Amino acid sequence: MSQTENKGSLISSEAYEKIDKWIARYPADKRQSALIPALSIVQEMCGNGSLSTELMDEMAAYIGIPEIAVYEVASFYSMYELEPVGRNMVAVCTNISCMLCGGEEIVQHIEDKYGVKIGGTTADGKFTLKQEEECLAACAGAPMMTVNGHYHEKLTLEKVDSIIEGLK
Ligand code: FES
Repeated sequence: MSQTENKGSLISSEAYEKIDKWIARYPADKRQSALIPALSIVQEMCGNGSLSTELMDEMAAYIGIPEIAVYEVASFYSMYELEPVGRNMVAVCTNISCMLCGGEEIVQHIEDKYGVKIGGTTADGKFTLKQEEECLAACAGAPMMTVNGHYHEKLTLEKVDSIIEGLK
């Protein structure tokens, strides 16, 4: 399938252009190797931060793999969201180093102050507090969290508030 055959699709032609660049890196019979970056592009550019079943199905058809193969990848990696999310994604690490340095208190603080439970989204849609993260390989900066994939380290509750309050 080419981009021009995808008129009326849920995935924009701009997204397809980026996806095609990834697909071109692999042999024709290994198009599925581009699935992970393709899903990231679709989630960011066409899904408001998450992947609907329809978007995943369209990606499966475009790459030429079974829909279930896309669902398996999308449900395995924590960077993909399968439910609608807020405008920003906040994820606090609560693995061992961060836990010992106050990661769980940070989660509790965010839940109490901003009225959001882990896995949920604030009423104003400002951010989703992701499920607790496993170690993000920044233990030296514990406690840490990511906001839209960007690392924030050596957190205090005041720092957390100033980061969250600065979100759009
Ligand atoms: S335990 Fe949090 S980054 Fe390693």
